[in-house]
Amino acid sequence: MPFELQPLPYAEDALEPYIDAQTMRIHHDFHHGGYVNNLNKALESYPDLQNRSIDDLIRNLHTLPEGVRTAVRNQGGGHFNHSIFWSIVAPNAGGEPTGAIATVINDVFGNFENFKTQFNDAGAKHFGSGFVWLVRTANNKFEIISQPNQDCPWSDGHYPILCNDVWEHAYYLTYQNRRPEYLKQWWNTVSWDAVNQRYATATR
Ligand SMILES: [Fe+2]
Repeated sequence: MPFELQPLPYAEDALEPYIDAQTMRIHHDFHHGGYVNNLNKALESYPDLQNRSIDDLIRNLHTLPEGVRTAVRNQGGGHFNHSIFWSIVAPNAGGEPTGAIATVINDVFGNFENFKTQFNDAGAKHFGSGFVWLVRTANNKFEIISQPNQDCPWSDGHYPILCNDVWEHAYYLTYQNRRPEYLKQWWNTVSWDAVNQRYATATR
């Protein structure tokens, strides 16, 4: 199988009380795991694509054969987006941004509170399933955007620095219909060290 589900880099209950252990287990093992399995199935008759990285497939989505493009967009996007999502949260994290990303947030959005408000609004107002992102756009601006389902801004050349998953599977067991509450609490899990690493790659 060309693509594999990597284990979570922390224990299932590591993000409690903000994200409960059962949500983490189901979200990682079955939702993310399902995207990986379905991506592998979709690529069975495309051996050339099996050797390419997920980053490459998502970035070059529009060049893929039409017969597999939608599957890579949905299942590959699910794999790519969730891999980013797990990597930018951590136990004993949260708090004020640090390092270079703190400067960007202050310069572009005024301050961290404004940035969080805009990001949370984008997530709360996003209709249905999807992700909210902080990206470095293809023309080198920093913007908050939301996209449906497993679509990824990287397919449009916008480098994903930070994202939150607003699918109900990400929060329903603890927060039920209260997506804004989930969005607010989720900041307690954001690892600014990890975000700064992505920022460094985004601006390389
Ligand atoms: Fe998800």
